[in-house]
Amino acid sequence: MAPKIAIVYYSTYGHVRKLAEAEKHGIEKAGGTADIFQIPETLSKEVLAKMHAPGPAADVPVLSDPATLEAYDGFLLGIPTRYGNFPAQWRAWWDQTGKQWQSGGFYGKLAGLFISTASLGGGQESTALAAMSTLAHHGIIYVPFGYAKAFGTLTDLSEVHGGGPWGAGSFAAADGSRQPSEKEISIAEIQGAEFYKTVAKFASGSA
Ligand SMILES: Cc1cc2nc3c(=O)[nH]c(=O)nc-3n(C[C@H](O)[C@H](O)[C@H](O)COP(=O)(O)O)c2cc1C
Repeated sequence: MAPKIAIVYYSTYGHVRKLAEAEKHGIEKAGGTADIFQIPETLSKEVLAKMHAPGPAADVPVLSDPATLEAYDGFLLGIPTRYGNFPAQWRAWWDQTGKQWQSGGFYGKLAGLFISTASLGGGQESTALAAMSTLAHHGIIYVPFGYAKAFGTLTDLSEVHGGGPWGAGSFAAADGSRQPSEKEISIAEIQGAEFYKTVAKFASGSA
């Protein structure tokens, strides 16, 4: 049976959403499918307006009930860094998963990460490391991206790019003006494809 993959993201300004779409594209190129969800917004319209943020995307389902994810074999989680960690929107969502923590609703499922920061050194690695504790508590198996499948791109220093062995990534710039580059999109696509292949192996019992 084809593995069920959910791509779940939060995005204030759209950068992580773009990476989410690239992850999906990669999964489709590898022969799979994925459903994209967004994490509920916790900020008021007034605060979002002060942040010059457009608010939640109208065309992406909101993952209000964490139990929805129990039907999936793997999750790709998209995180825009806040001080090197999950944003509060993501934390508020995880804080509603006590039932799955206790019952094992997410136990043994696979997860990969992709992360956006404003700048280099802004916390792509620390955000991934911070996420490990949440994954461990749920018994979710973290699937690192590694280097092997995108070695030339990941190690290319001819231009600034996000992403690394922890997962795809993008730099948004301090004012959000930079969009995910071609390289960053290609890394996210490769991660999507490789994550799909790994989940397929697990779901078929051949891993
Ligand atoms: C309160 C706040 C804290 C942030 N903390 C960091 C940070 O620690 N490091 C960093 O590089 N960027 C930081 N950023 C920038 C965000 O990571 C950036 O806006 C985001 O990755 C853009 O992705 P999005 O358009 O999908 O929301 C912060 C932004 C906000 C609003």
